[in-house]
Amino acid sequence: MSREPKDLHDFEDVAENYDLYLDVMYKNEDNHAGFLDFYLDFAKEYGQEGVIDIACGTGVVALYLAEHGIIADATDLSEAMCRVTAEKAKAGGYNLNVFPANMTEFRSDRKYSCAIIARSGFMHLTTPELQRAALINIRENLTDGGMLTFNTFDPNPFFQAQQMNTKDTDYSFRLEYTNKQGRREKIYNAISYDPTTQVMFGNWKFETLDDAGNVTEERIRPLRMRQTYRQEMKYLLELCGYEIVNIYNGYTKVPADTVAKNVIWCVRKK
Ligand SMILES: C[S@@+](CC[C@H](N)C(=O)[O-])C[C@H]1O[C@@H](n2cnc3c(N)ncnc32)[C@H](O)[C@@H]1O
Repeated sequence: MSREPKDLHDFEDVAENYDLYLDVMYKNEDNHAGFLDFYLDFAKEYGQEGVIDIACGTGVVALYLAEHGIIADATDLSEAMCRVTAEKAKAGGYNLNVFPANMTEFRSDRKYSCAIIARSGFMHLTTPELQRAALINIRENLTDGGMLTFNTFDPNPFFQAQQMNTKDTDYSFRLEYTNKQGRREKIYNAISYDPTTQVMFGNWKFETLDDAGNVTEERIRPLRMRQTYRQEMKYLLELCGYEIVNIYNGYTKVPADTVAKNVIWCVRKK
């Protein structure tokens, strides 16, 4: 089945399972070590006048901050994701302000000295115009000198070439996990790459299995993420009124002086 790839952000069908399969996905990823503590340290260092977790998903970062005494606002384009975040906060006894919004245009009734876009949220902005709109809008919501962190990865020509030869239905198995209903699910993805737009596009496929291993349900979720080159990002940040404070390769803060799978940008509102 081929589908017109639309923006990825209808997480409606996976929000309730997101934490369950992400745990499996990231378990063996070498570039994921120190993920939560990176954001906790960042919020402690810069969040005195308020923290916001943008594209918060299921609130993994916001909840971790709350557990460590930092009450952040949280926002996501997907209402389903916001609902899961709010439910988790309530269950944990935290009174978090969680609101659905597009990062290109959200407005809060306060400003923040620290904004976090964790785990590739920024890459879901699939054009330079949207990236620029988000950076300008976030800047509007920051206090003077406020800090923003987000991550990208360095485009890799080897993978780009592979993906340019992949159709959005050429699925590869990614992982198996147990969903919220206690059912086994297998996840596959197919990723193509368009070098003219720098957009990776394709699909995630979720198969639910019965006890005998037969597929009882299949869900397809479109994927669209934009790759951004470092030099491009440096000029975009300058254009949007930020200065670069640090660029790390991974959450353990290795300086990003070689090609990096997880480029972490820490930038300040000028
Ligand atoms: C890969 S998830 C990361 C979620 C979370 N930050 C985490 O670390 O688990 C990306 C999230 O970005 C959200 N998102 C995508 N585009 C967005 C936009 N334009 N504005 C706000 N949120 C967006 C999606 O709904 C999704 O929840």
